[in-house]
Amino acid sequence: MSLIQFSLFFFIIFLHNSKTVTSSTSFIAPITRDPSTELYIITISFKTPLQSTNLLLDLGAKFTWIDCTPDSYTSTTHRYIPCGTNLCASLTSLACSNCFRPTGPGCHNNSCALFPENPVIKNTVVAQALIDYFALNVTDGRNPGQLGVVPDFVASCSDNSLLRGLPDGVSGLAGLGRSNYSLPAQVSY
Ligand SMILES: *[C@@H]1O[C@H](CO)[C@@H](O)[C@H](O)[C@H]1NC(C)=O
Ligand SMILES: *[C@@H]1O[C@H](CO)[C@@H](O)[C@H](O)[C@H]1NC(C)=O
Ligand SMILES: *[C@@H]1O[C@H](CO)[C@@H](O)[C@H](O)[C@H]1NC(C)=O
Repeated sequence: MSLIQFSLFFFIIFLHNSKTVTSSTSFIAPITRDPSTELYIITISFKTPLQSTNLLLDLGAKFTWIDCTPDSYTSTTHRYIPCGTNLCASLTSLACSNCFRPTGPGCHNNSCALFPENPVIKNTVVAQALIDYFALNVTDGRNPGQLGVVPDFVASCSDNSLLRGLPDGVSGLAGLGRSNYSLPAQVSY
């Protein structure tokens, strides 16, 4: 049977308060279904320079996570979240972590840490949270294809062991659950 590919368009909440886009715009992102696993994938842009990134769509996850192994994560804008900051507290982080590899995305000392979960293999790891640029296309009905950038998007790192069981080409998970740090909550702020 030939591959079935949905191309639903996904409208995420109207924006208020955004400096980069006006209140009449909405973010849109393509959603496809992986034919072999039947899981849904959302394509967003992340990091600097912006890189097209496929993430597993998870309607229940409270935050987004992405593989931060040094070969796959290169970005000039990533920042870590120090333990003890208000941001770390609001993430309800339960761990503060150190790192004994060279400093980089997901590897700092005194870093706020989270427990990203893979819902397919039902596994979790402890990994550092980070902030980086995130972008989706915005539309106001006139200029489709313009990018709306969220420069302070909060996500968790993971290591590549957490990608097991996910569709090929996916480098993490997009959390759409009920949380101040879900993907829709962060792009609508
Ligand atoms: C964290 O601190 C330890 C001990 O001081 C040090 O050996 C290590 O290199 C540091 N890690 C990073 C990523 O700076
Ligand atoms: C935004 O739209 C352009 C052109 O329509 C497309 O090439 C690009 O992949 C889209 N980016 C995202 C993040 O969806
Ligand atoms: C989410 O953000 C709102 C508004 O800033 C705040 O009132 C609320 O306490 C936050 N919820 C959690 C669980 O931190």
